Amino acid sequence: MTHLHITGWVLGFILLAISYAMYKKGNTKAGKIVHMILRLDYLLILYSGGDLITPYFNGGSLMAEAIVKGVAGIWMIAIMEMILVRLPKEKPLKVLWIQFVIALIILLVLGFVRLPMGIQLG
Ligand code: HEM
Repeated sequence: MTHLHITGWVLGFILLAISYAMYKKGNTKAGKIVHMILRLDYLLILYSGGDLITPYFNGGSLMAEAIVKGVAGIWMIAIMEMILVRLPKEKPLKVLWIQFVIALIILLVLGFVRLPMGIQLG
């Protein structure tokens, strides 16, 4: 399941970059198609993240950190979506990119350093 999760979020960042580049070039149609594929990938991230988080709802010492990890993950999906919705409308993105960096740091620290699974087979 960690592999599915990693596949989900790495693919998400790649699709975000491609869609971003397409919109930026003025190729709205290609940007929209990649954006739609990214929306399907959100489901993969949510499904794998949801599966990974369930064992933490046991009142154990890592429950709070796992909840923060999950909330930050949903926040990151919202940021990615807002970037791609605002970009073709030529609205400012600076505040979103700042949030992107903050959310990414939280996700990487909690995902790889604090929570125990990291990259695991199975
Ligand atoms: C774009 C969004 C997300 C990013 C960039 C992200 C990033 C990460 C990273 C780097 C890890 C550690 C390595 C791994 O197993 O993949 C991880 C694990 C995890 N993520 Fe996410 N994640 C995202 C969304 C979510 C969501 C939406 C949830 C919950 C609903 C979630 C819950 C978890 C849990 C529970 C773990 C396992 C921690 C462990 O047991 O070690 N993530 N995530």
